[in-house]
Parts: sequence; C-alpha cells; structure tokens
Amino acid sequence: MAVSHLHQRPTHKRPSSFLNRTNLTLVFSLLIILGFFYPYLGISQPFFSNPNFAFQSKWRNYSLQEAVSFVGRNGTVIVCIVSEPYLDFLNNWLISVTRHKHQDKVLVIAEDYNTLYRVNQRWPGHAVLIPPVLESNSAHKFGSLGFFNFTARRPRHLLNILELGYNVMYNDVDMVWLKDPFPYLEGNHDVYFMDDVAAVKPLNHSHALPPPGKKGRPYVCSCMIFLRSTSGAKLAMRKWLEELQEQPWTRAKKANDQPAFNWALMKIEKKVDMYLLSQSAFPTGGLYFKNKTWVRETEGSHVIIHNNYILGFEKKIKRFRDYSLWLVDDYASESPLGKL
Ligand SMILES: *[C@@H]1O[C@H](CO)[C@@H](O)[C@H](O)[C@H]1NC(C)=O
Ligand SMILES: *[C@@H]1O[C@H](CO)[C@@H](O)[C@H](O)[C@H]1NC(C)=O
Ligand SMILES: *[C@@H]1O[C@H](CO)[C@@H](O)[C@H](O)[C@H]1NC(C)=O
Ligand SMILES: *[C@@H]1O[C@H](CO)[C@@H](O)[C@H](O)[C@H]1NC(C)=O
Ligand SMILES: *[C@@H]1O[C@H](CO)[C@@H](O)[C@H](O)[C@H]1NC(C)=O
Repeated sequence: MAVSHLHQRPTHKRPSSFLNRTNLTLVFSLLIILGFFYPYLGISQPFFSNPNFAFQSKWRNYSLQEAVSFVGRNGTVIVCIVSEPYLDFLNNWLISVTRHKHQDKVLVIAEDYNTLYRVNQRWPGHAVLIPPVLESNSAHKFGSLGFFNFTARRPRHLLNILELGYNVMYNDVDMVWLKDPFPYLEGNHDVYFMDDVAAVKPLNHSHALPPPGKKGRPYVCSCMIFLRSTSGAKLAMRKWLEELQEQPWTRAKKANDQPAFNWALMKIEKKVDMYLLSQSAFPTGGLYFKNKTWVRETEGSHVIIHNNYILGFEKKIKRFRDYSLWLVDDYASESPLGKL
C-alpha cells in the first residue's frame, strides 16, 4: 500500500503539474492572441472600416455595368486592357487621349488587382477588373474554362459592353493619338478597324475588308477597333469568340487573338457592315516606323500611331523616345493619373 502510494503519488503528481504548466501556457498564449486580434474580433466594424480594406473591397466589387455607366459619354466608351508592367504605356497613351479631350470616357480593364487599385486611387472609377486575373492557375490550364476566358477576354469584354448598349472603341496602349480619331469613324458602319499590312496602298484605297493574304486570311489589326452597339457588331464579337474556341492552342499563339479576329471577319463579311480606316490616318507600325519616304509624303494625315512590328518592352520605349512619342517623360502631369 505504502509502495503503491509512494509509487503512485509522483506519477499522479507529475502529469498533474505538467498539465498545469501546459494549461498556463495555453491560457497565456490565448490571452496574447486574443489581445492581438481583439480589435477585429469584438465587432466586425473596426475591421471593415480599415481604409485600405474598404478601398480595395469597393473596387473589387465594381462591376463592368457600373463602370461603363460611370465613364460612358454620349453612349460611347473607350477601353484598353492593361496589366501592371504596362502602366507607363497606359499613361503615355492617356496623355495623348487627354490632349484630344476624350479621357473622360476611358475605361481601363485591369488584368491584375494592383492595376485596378493604382488607377482607381488616382482616377476613381476609371478601372474595373473582370475575373479571372492573369496570375490565376486556372487561367493557364489549356482547355479549361479559365483558359478560354483568358484568351477570349478582348472579344468577351467588348461584347459585354455592346450588350450594355454602348458603342466602344478598343485601343492597345502602345498607341499614341496625334489627332482625334472620332471624326474618322465615318458613316454608320457596325465595325471599324485598321490594316496591319505594311505595304503602301493608294490614298484612295477601298474601305472594305482587305483580301486574304498568304495565310488565307486578311491581316486586320485587333489593336484598334470601333464598334457600334448594333447586332452586326455583336455578331462580329460572337464569331471572334467562336473562332478562338476552335483554334488549336500553341504557346506562341497564346496571347495573340488577331488571327481568330480575321477568320471571323472573313466569315461574316456579308452579314456585317465593316469599314477599313484609311492607311494614311491609321498606319501600322510596320509602315510608320520603317518608311520615312511614306511618312513625309503623308505628313499631317496621321491620326493614331501604333508601336508594333517590334519585340520587347525596352525597344518599344526607345522607339517612342526616338520619335518624340514617349510623352510620359515630360508630360505626365497632363495625364489624369499624373506621374506614376
Ligand atoms: C461587395 O459585394 C458583396 C456581395 O455582393 C457585399 O456583401 C459587400 O458588402 C460589398 N462590399 C462593398 C465594400 O461594397
Ligand atoms: C454623340 O453620338 C452621336 C452618334 O453616335 C454623334 O453623331 C455625335 O457627334 C456625338 N456627339 C458628341 C458630342 O460626341
Ligand atoms: C469564365 O467566364 C464566365 C463568363 O464570364 C464566368 O461565368 C466563369 O466563372 C469564368 N470561369 C472561370 C474559371 O474563370
Ligand atoms: C483611286 O484612284 C485611281 C486614279 O486616281 C483610280 O484609277 C482608282 O480606281 C481609284 N481607286 C478607288 C478604290 O477608288
Ligand atoms: C515607302 O514609301 C514610298 C512612298 O509611299 C513607296 O513608294 C515605297 O514603295 C515604300 N517602300 C517600301 C519598302 O514599302
């Protein structure tokens, strides 16, 4: 009994004091944790009134419909699709748009949350994010709906805007406006676009869809498109989406939706009223930056300059600088975003 008592006492006492110490540690830790999170646990109010949280949550919730009705002017919006590395290009383009007094109807479709927040912080209401974002894994899994959403974002966003009842001008942001393009959108056509072919055309060239080239389709640029909110323009966007879905995917083609745009235009040529903008006003970069003779001959007629036919971020900036079209260096204050 004594042995059993002597034997049991310590074994009983040891776990007991061990548990007490553990309990103490637990209680102590809980107190620290509770103390730390107290402001957020008590009521949800203090958490939601965190200015940064409220700001981000407000713009995360901002829908395309709200955005379009906020920026739309005279039933028209101007959109671009931008990810954070391209913010300087966005600003550069925006300075030129502002010089022609069309900045109020610009809507930046942000491809990532930083772009959404940075634009709306400086220019509230002018950026919207339509999920999925670029970084999401689902967006890169070929064959997935996320992937289709990613490649098809341009026609899908444009179609959505048309369905909200607005005309829409889409621009890539490696463009600069030298003149107001709106007076060049002559007549009442459904779809307006520019050619991406560098060969010089006569000044009185046809405004119809150009004939197919070597690849069996035309080379219209998906970089600058104006669409009226008509059934013809909506059909063009739906056909473009259909062509993107049917195209076999390759890594090289991943970010290029232009071929599908051209196949679509060819297939619906008879159903949709299309208008090819004049080459002297809307030249491809392959012509403007490569043929000085042509530039001299057509001086004064250029409206939008597109910095394409060149690869690489730094090279594009250098070329814009060489042609005095990199406006962000000296004129950032003219942009609604200011200096970024
Ligand atoms: C965002 O939308 C959700 C769901 O529609 C809503 O519960 C929430 O209050 C909204 N947040 C803000 C900041 O508007
Ligand atoms: C408004 O839109 C109509 C039709 O698209 C156009 O004819 C008119 O010039 C526009 N007005 C302004 C002030 O932009
Ligand atoms: C793809 O887009 C559709 C329509 O906008 C949307 O309902 C769906 O949730 C998106 N899917 C993914 C995986 O992003
Ligand atoms: C362009 O002008 C030339 C001569 O000035 C003429 O022969 C040609 O038919 C015109 N082309 C178009 C598409 O009007
Ligand atoms: C450059 O432009 C000139 C003038 O329009 C034209 O005659 C010439 O063929 C063009 N050169 C090339 C390489 O396209």
